[in-house]
This record gives sequence, structure tokens and C-alpha cells, in this order.
Amino acid sequence: MKKLALVTGAKGGIGSAITEKLVQDDYRVIATHFTGGAECAKEWFDEKGFNQDQVLLFELDVTDTEQCATRIAELLREEGTVDVLVNNAGITRDSVFKKMDAAQWHDVINTNLNSLFNVTQPLFAAMCEKGGGRIINISSVNGQKGQFGQANYAAAKAGMMGFSKSLAAEGARAGVTVNVVAPGYTATPMVTAMREEVLESITNQIPMKRLAKPEEIAASVAYLASDAGAYITGETLSVNGGLYMQ
Ligand code: CAA
Repeated sequence: MKKLALVTGAKGGIGSAITEKLVQDDYRVIATHFTGGAECAKEWFDEKGFNQDQVLLFELDVTDTEQCATRIAELLREEGTVDVLVNNAGITRDSVFKKMDAAQWHDVINTNLNSLFNVTQPLFAAMCEKGGGRIINISSVNGQKGQFGQANYAAAKAGMMGFSKSLAAEGARAGVTVNVVAPGYTATPMVTAMREEVLESITNQIPMKRLAKPEEIAASVAYLASDAGAYITGETLSVNGGLYMQ
């Protein structure tokens, strides 16, 4: 029987690569998309040539605590268990802090950080009860080093790391590992939407002088989900081309 993974924001740049990699590794993937994104998600599903045994599209507003509790409880009743959770959904609302408004702050904190509570809370207990599970949180190099124009995003992404270490301590005895993958600048619509000269200047600061490929991030996620990663917990795996070395 296939293992079951749940990937939030599965249709996005990194989420899509993670979904494809987990499908290749013979997982069945519950691929979540935001409310109102069903049509777009179906187009993605068809374009990738997935079938129902590989990918199940699942509407989930990761910012909605109640909806997540209800929808995930239903999912657990139907599927029994989720073996791997990848908290990947994330947004940017970049602005220098002086000009940042409350909506830009709250939207990013809700989607990138509060979502960890909403999605993980209903699954973590089930994983502990079952005696195993993998939780992989997609943070960012900018949560490690900070970034001009990203006080909101860096706060959320750094928060994911504190959350993951704490949950790793709580899950260890039950065999539930909790880790972070911290991608650098990756060739996805989120990054290529930046102003050309800003992106060029950032790329010049990356020792490898190129953006990450989404598949390079997905490979790290698959490693942490695999049997080979069983003894790794509370760790952050940086995949950033040398942009920030800890
Ligand atoms: N350090 C110091 N000063 C800087 C700076 C930096 N890194 N970047 C810009 N400045 C200066 C500028 O030179 C400018 O100075 P002057 O006023 O003297 O000319 C001033 O700060 C204002 O800068 P901008 O003109 O860029 O301001 P803006 O309001 O037009 O744009 C911004 C602000 C949208 C935040 C823009 O600076 C920007 O896009 N920055 C990059 C943010 C970034 O890295 N986002 C990552 C998105 S992808 C992602 O998040 C994925 C991931 O995990 C990596």
C-alpha cells in the first residue's frame, strides 16, 4: 500500500516539484489548493498527467483554523493516516517596513506561520498515536539571514524553525520527525516576479551564481521523508547555493 503525503500549496513552484518527486517515489499525494483554486488545480493536475491513485486535489484554506480541523479530520476518517506532511504554502507581500501596512503583515504571518498550527495540529496527534510520521516545513534562507523588504516574511520563516525544533522534541519518542528545508532563491513565479534589477543583484550575491531549481528543493524534502532520514529531527537543511552558511 502506498504511503500518503499531504502537501500544502502543492500547485505552486516548489510545491509542484515536491508533489512530482513524491509521486515518483510512489507516494499518494493529497495536494491542497486554496479556496477558489479548484479549476486552476485541475488544469495543473491534467497538465502533469497525474491520476487519482497518485494525486488527490484537496481544497484547504491553510489560514482557516476551523476549516483545517474539520477537513483534515474528514480526511483522516477516510484515509486512516497521513505519513508525511509538507507545510509548503506560502506568500510574499514585500515592502520596506516603513511602508508595510497591517494587511501585508497579517496576510504573510497567517499564511506562512499560523498555517503551521492549523494544518499540523490535527495531524500531529494522529501521527503520534500511530507511532510515526514525517513533518517537513518549507522555510527560507531569508528566515535565517533576514532580508531587506521582508520583515513580515522573514519573521514567519524564522518562526517556522522555532516551531519545528519544539515539535521535534515533542514528537521524537513517538517516532515523528519534524524538520525544515530552507530554500534559497528558487526559479519559481514568486522569485521571478521580483524587479529584474533586484533579482539580478541578489543572484550576483549567490556564490553559485544561479537560482535553485525547484527539483533541487524537492530532492531534500524527499530525503527527509525517506527511510534514510529516519534519525534526523529538529534540523534545518539549507539548500541555497552558498548564499548563507551557518
Ligand atoms: N540593502 C540596503 N539598502 C537597500 C537594499 C538592500 N538589500 N535594497 C534596496 N535598498 C535601498 C535602495 O537602494 C533604495 O535606496 P535609495 O532610496 O537611496 O535609492 C531604498 O533602499 C529603497 O529600495 P527600493 O527602491 O527597492 O524600494 P521599493 O519600495 O521600490 O521596493 C522592495 C522595496 C519591494 C522590498 C524591493 O527592495 C525588493 O523587491 N527587495 C527584495 C526583496 C526580496 O528579496 N524578496 C524575495 C522574494 S522571493 C522569496 O521570498 C522566496 C525566498 O524565500 C527566497
